[in-house]
Amino acid sequence: MPGYGLAVAQAQQKLYEFVKLLQAAGVTVKFAIHPVAGRMPGQMDVLLAEAGVPYDLIFQLEDINDEFATADVALVIGANDVVNPAARTEKSSPIFGMPILNADKAKKVYVVKRGQGKGYAGIVNALFYGDNCDMVYGDAQAVLVKMIEAVRGLGLAAAA
Ligand code: TAP
Repeated sequence: MPGYGLAVAQAQQKLYEFVKLLQAAGVTVKFAIHPVAGRMPGQMDVLLAEAGVPYDLIFQLEDINDEFATADVALVIGANDVVNPAARTEKSSPIFGMPILNADKAKKVYVVKRGQGKGYAGIVNALFYGDNCDMVYGDAQAVLVKMIEAVRGLGLAAAA
């Protein structure tokens, strides 16, 4: 799930490089796009297209949200409000009622962001404190560079 932070970091190329390594190692990867992820309509779709991500890997919220419950890993990169479960449950929240990507339903969640900065709505995100969630702090591009090195180091991706 890409969000505003991915755009700020201009990390779309590195993200797709990472995804190609996973695919070469036999991992099924899908991109999940929230309609208001980023700061402009369609921003995430444009970023991923720029990086050469094939359209058949890119899914809009309504087409993928049911799949999180059976996903091994949800990887959130520079997104915050669009994966905040408060939208479902907290009536006083400014984002209450907004559909969110169901990242919290995956077996394991990793969230890449620089630190404890809030999202556009300026609110706490309970997803980050969930038992199934680990935070990976750093600029999205810098973290992806390290993740690419780490996966290459595993020697799984002979084809990449
Ligand atoms: P946000 O909720 O804004 O969260 C983005 C997160 O990215 C931040 O919490 C920030 O945390 C992190 N970040 C910033 N720079 C980063 C970097 N270089 N590397 C890694 N992470 C970085 O983004 P979202 O989830 O995409 O949601 C979009 C929000 O914008 C929604 O609330 C939406 O309503 C609003 N909005 C959207 C639009 C349209 S049309 N898309 C228009 C106006 C407003 P750290 O500071 O900890 O890194």
